[in-house]
Amino acid sequence: MKINVEEAQFDEKEFQAVVISLFEGEKLPKGYVTQLNQALGGTISEITSSADFEAERNQTQIIYSLGKIKTRRVILVAMGKPSDFSLESVRATAGKVGQRIRDLELSNYATLLPGENFNFSIQEVVQSVVEGTELALYRFDRYKSDKNKKNQLDKVTILVQNHDSIPKAEEGIRIGKAVVEGVKLARDLANTPGKDCTPTILAKEASKIARKYGFKCRILEPKDMAKLGMGGIIGVSQGSQQPAKLIIMEYMGGRTGDPPIMLLGKGITFDSGGISIKPSEKMDEMKFDKSGGATVIGTMRTLADLKLPLNIVGMVPATENLLGGGAYKPGDVLTFFKGKTAEILNTDAEGRVVLGDTLSYATDYNPQIIIDLAALTGACVIALGSEASGLFGNNAELKKRIIAAGEATGEKVWELPLWNEYRNQIKSDVADIKNTGGRSGGAITAAAFLAEFVEDYPWAHLDIAGTAYSQTTTPAKPYQTKGATGVGVRLLTHLLQKWKTIPTNANRKSKASK
Ligand code: BES
Ligand code: MN
Ligand code: ZN
Repeated sequence: MKINVEEAQFDEKEFQAVVISLFEGEKLPKGYVTQLNQALGGTISEITSSADFEAERNQTQIIYSLGKIKTRRVILVAMGKPSDFSLESVRATAGKVGQRIRDLELSNYATLLPGENFNFSIQEVVQSVVEGTELALYRFDRYKSDKNKKNQLDKVTILVQNHDSIPKAEEGIRIGKAVVEGVKLARDLANTPGKDCTPTILAKEASKIARKYGFKCRILEPKDMAKLGMGGIIGVSQGSQQPAKLIIMEYMGGRTGDPPIMLLGKGITFDSGGISIKPSEKMDEMKFDKSGGATVIGTMRTLADLKLPLNIVGMVPATENLLGGGAYKPGDVLTFFKGKTAEILNTDAEGRVVLGDTLSYATDYNPQIIIDLAALTGACVIALGSEASGLFGNNAELKKRIIAAGEATGEKVWELPLWNEYRNQIKSDVADIKNTGGRSGGAITAAAFLAEFVEDYPWAHLDIAGTAYSQTTTPAKPYQTKGATGVGVRLLTHLLQKWKTIPTNANRKSKASK
């Protein structure tokens, strides 16, 4: 979709619709809207002064101009109270508007930028409009024979009242576009069924993006991983015919030698549970078990597109978790990269197993920080539902920044504890640790397992099992659609956009950089 900015000039141009957002209890904004109202014979003020219009935020009302102005439709949208204005409300409203216009089968519209006088910069508000609109209109139609290509909404014009706002708005569009493309890529990868997004295909997609944006992508093959002693990934992959891949994307936009930021994502392209097989009901949802990896690949695309001045390494351990004859079994003991051993009590707790090797491998980069994202536990869904991802970590500053980025982007996170006591639950009689800690505190003991592999590097883990996909056609956020959400791309991008070096964990031994 094309998105551009223009200065709002009354009745200069013909659009299929002009969208005006109005706040509850406020007089009509001066300038463009007042002129519009006059030309329409006072219809706008008549509607806004009636009690029915502002009943609910995001409610829309179409006015037909009947030839009084060039544009045929003026669409009013209720923004709620001015005090509730936020970037999230901008995304939500923009999303609702986009969907409404698509339903009307229009191919273009103009929208007057809401809140040009608010606490947020023009750039941020425009970015949010772009995100809300594009993400609400996202559709995964790869397998639809009728792709509904005609009458597509293909152009949105953002109208600003002040000429000086144009460059800032254009910057907002540029950033918004980069973010949206990353989110859409993450959604596409996560939505794709296991058959068409095997580890090999996922690795190819990552390589393609790397080539396009000029960063490096290495793929570790099973034999490479075996040589490195990555018994976790190899173990999980053994029940599958598909070779496992460890995808490593290296975007070096920072100074040579600057410790990298590591972004890790669980890439189980299908999780049957393995020998500890899952119930068949809803097992199809386990194509979304690669969501963490999809988010990392999408984020790498966005960060490279934005040319952030940082060294960022993305890692995605990709494998299926199936139950072929070679499958790993309950009772098996696996040896991970760098030698730690784990007893497997449940082959369905495979995410922590593939991440164990990957986290450990990440420490070899002497990183500044490590963040991993994984649809890791059903227990996290029970704890937090689908409104927040679970946050764990060993560094207060990093957690604080992630929480703030979650709030700014609407990708909320909620911290769960990772106290030492929980480690007792994953002690094993036969190996160093075991891969399940029982039902109680399941999201926490999974995180405690991961913590075994990060040494003292500042690390955060996001359990996105509840936020990675939505199974309703009417998700709470209008800019989400049924299926994969691409959660994490916007949060990570926001987090890294104004990144400042983080103070290291106090007890970390200093290491020579590689
Ligand atoms: N991929 C699942 C977690 C999951 C559950 C993701 C629901 C998305 C929605 C993970 O591999 C898993 O199966 N976890 C088990 C762990 C248990 C066996 C300790 C779980 O949560 O039941
Ligand atoms: Mn599982
Ligand atoms: Zn899984």
